[in-house]
Amino acid sequence: MSTTVIVGAQCGDEGKGKVVDYFSKDKDLVIRFQGGDNAGHTVANEFGTFKLHLVPCGIFNSKATCLVGTGMVVNPIELKNEMDQIAAAGVPLDGLKISSRAHILMPYHRDLDSLKEQSGKAHIGTTKRGIGPAYAGKASRINIRFGDLADKEYLRNHFESVLEQINSQLEYYNSKTYTVDEVMEYCKEWYDLFKDRIVDAFALIQTALKNNKKILFEGQLGIMKDIDLGTYPYVTSSNPVAAYAAVSAGIPARSIDRIIGVAKAFSSQVGDGPFPTEVFDERFDTLRGTGANIDDEFGARTGRPRRLGWLDIPVLRFANMVNGFDELVLCKLDKLDELDELEICVDYKLNGKILEIMPETKDLDKVEAVYEKVPGWKSSTKGIKKFEDLPQNAKNYIKRIEELVGVPVNFVGVGPERDDIAAR
Ligand code: GDP
Ligand code: IMO
Ligand code: MG
Repeated sequence: MSTTVIVGAQCGDEGKGKVVDYFSKDKDLVIRFQGGDNAGHTVANEFGTFKLHLVPCGIFNSKATCLVGTGMVVNPIELKNEMDQIAAAGVPLDGLKISSRAHILMPYHRDLDSLKEQSGKAHIGTTKRGIGPAYAGKASRINIRFGDLADKEYLRNHFESVLEQINSQLEYYNSKTYTVDEVMEYCKEWYDLFKDRIVDAFALIQTALKNNKKILFEGQLGIMKDIDLGTYPYVTSSNPVAAYAAVSAGIPARSIDRIIGVAKAFSSQVGDGPFPTEVFDERFDTLRGTGANIDDEFGARTGRPRRLGWLDIPVLRFANMVNGFDELVLCKLDKLDELDELEICVDYKLNGKILEIMPETKDLDKVEAVYEKVPGWKSSTKGIKKFEDLPQNAKNYIKRIEELVGVPVNFVGVGPERDDIAAR
């Protein structure tokens, strides 16, 4: 049996897309288990370069079944666009399935997210993709799910009872409202498009587990944006943690037997929220680039420039406490190749005292980052395939991270392509 979960160990954009593509090669089933098209998962391989938002990054393995999972909120319009783009690059989509229990992210969810962000009230810098309103609809039990698309009568009754409530929220912002006929028309279109892909994901996963199939769960975002444990309210509306893979799939937590954390060799964040190791200087401006290269530091979803800073060990320790990593993949080491010296935040101090545990948002805003300086390696690591071939100071940087976090770094990312990985 082999059930692996891959999750982000920081604030998202760690390189999960590339890592999922890399580990999907021998998998039978790859499942995106939370989030929606707020994700931007970059993959560069023999088919081209892709920024995937909803389709699992295992799609490039034509033998794998790829599941848009139960824990997701899915905008069908975006899913269709993404499928068209992938198909145009010659990637077969036969294995792509959608959980009948996945929630449908409706046009009004997206409107409400944008309207709230634009109103300036309680602005948190979301991706404006409708994620918060869609998960709010799930918790309020007023959403529809993919399995509902087959039943027109159910859908009409449902919209007749909930649409007024949704429209009243849109009216608050003086925005366009929706009629039952209009949303029924959308649903008809989506059913025609997706009916052959909608499956009972619970049954599919249980069967795969029973038959010892190799399953890979793909997380979205990272621990610091977890709705329960992250920097609330500057978070997403789902749980980007390994345990949630089991929750949404409906499998025992103990059936997960490998948990891989993906970390970037420095820190980044898009959107608002505390960022104790953030740096504003020309070294990080150079690292960010202009957006012209695939691996420049601009959001893969929104194109926003990412906020950047030094590697934050308290974040990685926290990520490990929550997820229980077997190993880490450290991406983008090559982006540090030119630096004379690097800093690592080894601890947080609050009111003069070292903190043992990740504080809550208000205190995280006040902490002082305690740094250790290490020498750079000043040589190219691009494309190196073996850990032992990395420059000594790069190895020292990685060893120090392992000591400080207490998790082995078994893979190091040294370029954006699938195989730009130095393995131990
Ligand atoms: P995700 O959301 O975690 O999948 O990450 P994103 O795709 O949003 O952002 C990661 C960025 O880093 C993308 O531009 C990738 O192409 C790039 N990337 C991933 N791993 C590496 C690496 O090891 N080296 C370099 N140079 N780029 C990488
Ligand atoms: P991947 O999967 C980085 C951030 C937004 C904002 C907060 C809430 O590519 O790592 P939301 O739209 O989810 O309501 O926004 O979360 N955010 C991401 N940041 N990578 C992502 O996804 C993100 N998805 C959401 O910037 O701070
Ligand atoms: Mg991303």
